Amino acid sequence: MNMKRIAAEYAVQYIEDGMKVGLGTGSTAYWAIQKIGERVKEGLSIQAVATSKASERQAMELGIPIIPFHEIDGLDLTIDGADEVDLDLHLIKGGGGALLREKIVAHHSKRLIIVADERKLVHTLGQFPLPVEVVPFAVEWTLNSLQRLGCRTQLRTDEEQLFITDNGNYIVDCNFATIAAPLKLHNEILNIPGVVDNGLFIGRADLAVIAHYDGIVEVL
Ligand code: 5RP
Repeated sequence: MNMKRIAAEYAVQYIEDGMKVGLGTGSTAYWAIQKIGERVKEGLSIQAVATSKASERQAMELGIPIIPFHEIDGLDLTIDGADEVDLDLHLIKGGGGALLREKIVAHHSKRLIIVADERKLVHTLGQFPLPVEVVPFAVEWTLNSLQRLGCRTQLRTDEEQLFITDNGNYIVDCNFATIAAPLKLHNEILNIPGVVDNGLFIGRADLAVIAHYDGIVEVL
């Protein structure tokens, strides 16, 4: 059973005719976009914005109407994945490198629904290295500042090239092992010049749809 697909398709039930919808990024959000595409073919009328070039391409191929940001002032609902979800619905996101666009879209959505399989559910965030988007200028100094917060850093690469985000920046994966105070860390990271944003989403998710391997779908 593909638990990512089950969670994603479950969440698509929350989309109603006429809604403005944010499309997430990653292998779980992929299944939500596929399902939305099916529903659009069956007559569902929505307008959508995407959190990455990859999701936008997928949506356009499926005939989901993509609307320019300047034509709307917000969204009804966004469905997106996560790398970790804790029981307060605080998240680590950015495994796919789209954290900045995901955070902007989430901020302008009335509701953010997270879709994930049970492996993403954790008691304490931090085992998944926290992605931080940084500008290329003086990146070594930005890495030093991040390390002073108590993590090991790894500049993300893709096929031996530096990974470049859709915004032309780098991603630093920060291994803290455990993040006891997510909001404090979030703000400390944002205080570092050169950091654009980080993958901690604190108090932003409204619902998490978690698909368990015994077939149960849990809505938190
Ligand atoms: C991309 C993300 C993804 O939502 C997150 O990495 C989860 O991905 P997947 O569904 O492939 O496990 O934040 O920036």
